[in-house]
Amino acid sequence: MNDTSAVTVKDATALVRLTDVSKYYGNIRALQGVSLEVSAGEITCVLGDNGAGKSTLIKIIAGLHRHDSGSFEIEGEETVLANPRAALDHGIATVYQDLAVVPLMPVWRNFFLGSEPTRGRGPLRRLDVDLMRETTRAELLRMGIDLRDVDQPIGTLSGGERQCVAIARAVYFGAKVLVLDEPTAALGVKQSGVVLKYVAAARDAGLGVVLITHNPHHAHLVGDRFVLLKRGAMAGSHTRDSITLDELTRQMAGGSELDELSHELERVAESGPDRPSGTTRTPRDDTTR
Ligand SMILES: Nc1ncnc2c1ncn2[C@@H]1O[C@H](COP(=O)(O)OP(=O)(O)O)[C@@H](O)[C@H]1O
Ligand SMILES: [Mg+2]
Repeated sequence: MNDTSAVTVKDATALVRLTDVSKYYGNIRALQGVSLEVSAGEITCVLGDNGAGKSTLIKIIAGLHRHDSGSFEIEGEETVLANPRAALDHGIATVYQDLAVVPLMPVWRNFFLGSEPTRGRGPLRRLDVDLMRETTRAELLRMGIDLRDVDQPIGTLSGGERQCVAIARAVYFGAKVLVLDEPTAALGVKQSGVVLKYVAAARDAGLGVVLITHNPHHAHLVGDRFVLLKRGAMAGSHTRDSITLDELTRQMAGGSELDELSHELERVAESGPDRPSGTTRTPRDDTTR
């Protein structure tokens, strides 16, 4: 899957390509000159601190916001999405951080929310509950998720499991592009691992995935491409072959700014030897004995 990642020319088959995109909220420039592409069977990670513009970027891809300049192509066609429905019609499914689920409804009901199959006609038309139950169970199993009981309220699942159900749902409904906004942000190490496994499963099923995260470790585990955002601008764009985890972590942490900070800290350390904690002595107190 990574054999094309060293190619630097434009990939003509990109599912989604943003070029030099900018976005303003009134006077606030949320994005400036951002470019990114997502291809089938690849994971593009978008990294950046709070306020970097990650959510704004995916809201453009998801059809919630319009970009102000630059181009947005879907499968090579310049596109302006009118609304999220239009994004879905193009096969772009977005899983937001605060998942839009109905906690008290069963897992199967949430799986089909808004796209419920029915059977019968006219006044006899009703929800095909058996089909929904069975399909949900089968689809989750296909992704390797063995839920004992798809009748349990989705609110009883862990955060990681809910993310997995959302991913399985997008795959089932035929998404070509899956956009995930910080799916591991609120999760522990183990659950994060499970979610990343299903992100990789979606990629292996041929979807193009956009994974938003501020965790370079999570990104590097699964990512094929990495786009770093900083205060709305591009701070780097790399393929997997062109950046190590250490370098990605360094850039993510602020790179040169972090070097400066560590110099600062060294100088502070040099100006005064180790002081016992809990004392309020200044370095000068140390030298006067
Ligand atoms: N609806 C909005 N109206 C005005 N400013 C916004 C809006 N949404 C985001 N912003 C601003 O745009 C910038 C980028 O925000 P966002 O895309 O949410 O960043 P991230 O998801 O990386 O934390 C921030 O400065 C934020 O305050
Ligand atoms: Mg955000």
